Amino acid sequence: MNTGSPKKRILITGASGGLGGALARQYAAPGVMLALWGRDLARLTALAEVCRARGACVDVRSLDISDVAGAVLAVEAEDAAGPIDLALLAAGLGDVRAEGDKVEDPALVAKLGIVNFAAPAAMAAALAKRMVERKSGSIVLIGSAAAFHALPFAAAYSGSKAGLARFAEALRLGMREHGVTVTLVSPGFIDTAAGRQVPGPKPLMLKPDDVAARIAAAVASGKGHLILPWPFAALRLFDRILPRFLRDRLLLSLAPPR
Ligand SMILES: NC(=O)c1ccc[n+]([C@@H]2O[C@H](COP(=O)([O-])OP(=O)(O)OC[C@H]3O[C@@H](n4cnc5c(N)ncnc54)[C@H](OP(=O)(O)O)[C@@H]3O)[C@@H](O)[C@H]2O)c1
Repeated sequence: MNTGSPKKRILITGASGGLGGALARQYAAPGVMLALWGRDLARLTALAEVCRARGACVDVRSLDISDVAGAVLAVEAEDAAGPIDLALLAAGLGDVRAEGDKVEDPALVAKLGIVNFAAPAAMAAALAKRMVERKSGSIVLIGSAAAFHALPFAAAYSGSKAGLARFAEALRLGMREHGVTVTLVSPGFIDTAAGRQVPGPKPLMLKPDDVAARIAAAVASGKGHLILPWPFAALRLFDRILPRFLRDRLLLSLAPPR
């Protein structure tokens, strides 16, 4: 536990991962209190040292958000200990249907629904409820460009991120008159452990530090939705305007990226 009187309290989930770690480094500065959550305590501890060297106060916590009720209690307790100004909910899981499988494993489908949708949505709701009371606070939900496309080889991933995207949009609108901002981030490929695991070509792959900087700028300007890199926004539009039979044909032509 750190002492001192930090001015800004920031919670980052998935901080032990590539993007979450970059976000922690992005925000680490004097006057900032970082709550870094993940599961891998060794990685969190190493990251905490880097952030402390940049002048931030840091607490780390190992927490499995697939216990949704436990995750909600944890954010409520964190916020009760000191109001969170900014929550960046970056924890998430990727998946691609296993080779030879015609359908994704049902247990994996359930897990992605929980980790990528139910847990971050419930945590965001718990925070929003408290932020509304004080009429301030910012919540960032990390979705994916995969949310815009019905990927036949990654139904659970694209479905869970689509659910999160719709939730974030609705929460943003609901919070608008209450002084709480909600930002949805929909990245393409990022050069992290999860990103590198996706087989096949990964066009326009982004560096985690660049994504973190873009997210910080989006939060600072109160942006509702950040899609990056920009060609993925064009692809989203293309998916929307294409007649269904053409879209189906195109999506079916995408071989599972191996
Ligand atoms: N990389 C990409 O290409 C890409 C593209 C679009 C969107 N995204 C999204 O960006 C976010 C960050 O991903 P990343 O690329 O940084 O991946 P990553 O390096 O694999 O990091 C994922 C993070 O999520 C945490 N996590 C996973 N399951 C969890 C659970 N049950 N409970 C608590 N924490 C859990 C991991 O914790 P531990 O490691 O400690 O287990 C890790 O900190 C994810 O939401 C991902 O879907 C990534």
